[in-house]
Amino acid sequence: MSSAADGCVLVIFGASGDLTRRKLLPAVYNLIESGHLPGGFAILGVARPAIDEAAYRAQMRERVADIEGEPLDAAKWKRIEERLHYISGEFNDVGLYAALAQTLGELTRRYAIPPNFLFYFAIPPDLFGTVARHLADARLTVEADGWRRVIVEKPFGYDLESARALNAELASGLQESQIYRIDHYLGKETVQNILAFRFANGIFEPTWNRRYVDHVQMTVGEEAGVEARGAYYDKAGALRDMVQNHMFQLLTLVAMEPPISFRAEDVRNEKVKVLHAVQPFDDGDVRQHVVRAQYGGYTKEQHVSPTSRTETFTAMRLMIDSWRWAGVPFYLRTGKRMRRRWTEIAVQFKTAPYMLFRETPVECTNPNVLALRIQPDEGISLSFDAKVPGPLERLATVTMNFSYAEYFKEEPSTGYETLLFDAMTGDQTLFHRMDIVEAGWQVVDPILRAWQRDTISALPVYPPNSDGPVDVDRLLERDGRRWRS
Ligand code: BG6
Repeated sequence: MSSAADGCVLVIFGASGDLTRRKLLPAVYNLIESGHLPGGFAILGVARPAIDEAAYRAQMRERVADIEGEPLDAAKWKRIEERLHYISGEFNDVGLYAALAQTLGELTRRYAIPPNFLFYFAIPPDLFGTVARHLADARLTVEADGWRRVIVEKPFGYDLESARALNAELASGLQESQIYRIDHYLGKETVQNILAFRFANGIFEPTWNRRYVDHVQMTVGEEAGVEARGAYYDKAGALRDMVQNHMFQLLTLVAMEPPISFRAEDVRNEKVKVLHAVQPFDDGDVRQHVVRAQYGGYTKEQHVSPTSRTETFTAMRLMIDSWRWAGVPFYLRTGKRMRRRWTEIAVQFKTAPYMLFRETPVECTNPNVLALRIQPDEGISLSFDAKVPGPLERLATVTMNFSYAEYFKEEPSTGYETLLFDAMTGDQTLFHRMDIVEAGWQVVDPILRAWQRDTISALPVYPPNSDGPVDVDRLLERDGRRWRS
């Protein structure tokens, strides 16, 4: 993060929705606390409900307090509320954009804010194109006197073709440098720390390759089911919802070559190469190296089809065709309604030669595992074998542990603080560039197509609160390995 954001108006389309109260306003609230918000700042909410500004402010105060789980700090909330404005209208009505332009003019004058506008599309993706077009027609995307930036939420497309179509809609009124495709995983401190860990320390990078690494396991387990999002999720499924974006971002950070600088384009150039190097899947690979399953009871969830074949769990073995990673499998798994909430990247190193311990009670040596714990219990641990005290030569696996909470004693954040701040400073490093989105779809599209063609095989069902379907174990057992638990 740079230290100063530009003064601007944050315009939130979809200001009455879930994302605004759960993430965006709490993030602004936390940015005030950390002193990162510019003095010249205001929020303009735009949504359909025809309520007045006072009612909108009262609603948001109550909802943000619910999310924070404690009474809001009156002075801090006052700073948001005094600058929190609202206009209502239909997103396809030209009149809304005329009103928007007029209100933006008034707000920048009243608060002496430079005419920089950050448009946040917290709306369904089928509205992205409409809103972008209207903004362009109202000349609100023209960067004549200040900057204009648009943050778009996921999902960015449904497959490669729809992602390209969506991008073409956005690109008709915006330059790539104005489009910030958000992935909230990249806002997590532990995810950003992957690059710091790899490249700010001299001892890990020399071993970070096929010579020393046996394989990598990446897990994103969730306890929660689909909850109120059945309508969206049933069309998406775990592969689109978690793998194509969040997990592929983790993969690129772990597998990329060192960028020549931390500037956005340098980092993104390296990330996209990783996805381009993933070995493409054909139908046989999908059958052998990809698992899908659904949790028991999913088809009874609200807004889910009773005959749904949507996967709520998926796992796969990926190979990356590069000098660094040739022959090193990356195993990915993610699912809802699992035994626990758990996001972790585990780098398992090759075992040491055994010969020293012949003729001792030691039966085998264990591999060193470096675990990057993304959430919860954020931290990093390294396991290694140590001698058990006593006259006999016996070994036990012990762990060195670093915990964020113990060490940094930071307040929890939503992950959106950094991303909002970066968008205000014009730093696109943590946002998806279009070629990265496309490269992600290029990897998953053949899997989606293979699944679509296969309407016969039964979809495995796994019990809620479990580690997923039994098939997922076979994925590793076939290679003589086991999942971490
Ligand atoms: C979202 C997915 O992008 O990420 C959700 O749409 C998922 O289905 C969520 O639950 C997980 O985010 P986090 O930050 O809780 O790991």
